[in-house]
Amino acid sequence: MKHLLSLEKLARADFDKILRAATAFKRERGHHKTQPLAGQTWALMFSKSSTRTRVSFEVGIHELGGRPMFLNANDIQLGRGEPIKDTARVLGRMIHGAVIRTFAQSDVEEFARFSGVPTINALTDDEHPCQILADIFTFQEQRGPIAGKTVAFIGDGACNVANSWIWTAAKFGFELRIAAPKKFQPSAALLKRAGGKISISTDIKATAKGADLLYTDVWISMGKEAEAKERIKILTGYQINQSLVKLAKPGALVMHCLPAYRGKEIDDATLEANADTIFEEAENRLHVQKAILNWAVS
Ligand code: CP
Ligand code: NVA
Repeated sequence: MKHLLSLEKLARADFDKILRAATAFKRERGHHKTQPLAGQTWALMFSKSSTRTRVSFEVGIHELGGRPMFLNANDIQLGRGEPIKDTARVLGRMIHGAVIRTFAQSDVEEFARFSGVPTINALTDDEHPCQILADIFTFQEQRGPIAGKTVAFIGDGACNVANSWIWTAAKFGFELRIAAPKKFQPSAALLKRAGGKISISTDIKATAKGADLLYTDVWISMGKEAEAKERIKILTGYQINQSLVKLAKPGALVMHCLPAYRGKEIDDATLEANADTIFEEAENRLHVQKAILNWAVS
């Protein structure tokens, strides 16, 4: 049984299989040779908002021959307190796979354990594996192998998206630099576990200098709304803007997982100047997630 719960646990060979298949799924959109999800129903159980992840999984499952069933966690008994393990045991007897967006990482892990069906993490407080797979795919599509390159992450360095980047640096052999205020830096324990060439700084200019990719995510992740005022105060200045881009390598890519908050983690001019890449990155969620689904059932 294959699950995609965390990039920490995904072997490099599986990354490669998924990324290779994504290229074929992108090329063959509209005329896929196989329908790996034929006859299957996949539940999308979401406790947080989503545009890209929800739509790309619904469309992807459909185009692979399956049927997506969107379950807003508040509309099912889970929202009234039915335990995850009971929900998992019920759904596991009816569906063929699950895509889950929630708060606690332990909830997706518990669902995977009790449901007995392939389970995919569609974002938790700790990780966003599908996003970073699509990000690496996008980088490599435009610039070739990410090995040996420098990725500069600017902003909330302790968020799910930053964490998932951290798990990939050693596996792919790129340098990851994170610029974040002290309060929003990844823990030393996490960095030790991840290994690889990763550095943390409060100096955004030094972090961006000569980088091949400038990357950012929102300052206020879902679930952190109560900290909004404090986060804006502390994170102000950790922005990708035109003057920061000038410090990166000429022709460096700028990427953002979206949704973007202009004037906060990125300015409008930089987002618009890099819109082709950023919206290609969003589209690539579809192709990469088809490859993840195909991997999960094969
Ligand atoms: N990037 C991303 O996961 O977007 P959504 O929250 O819209 O799914
Ligand atoms: N870190 C963000 C990612 C959104 C796709 C969040 O968790 O809200």
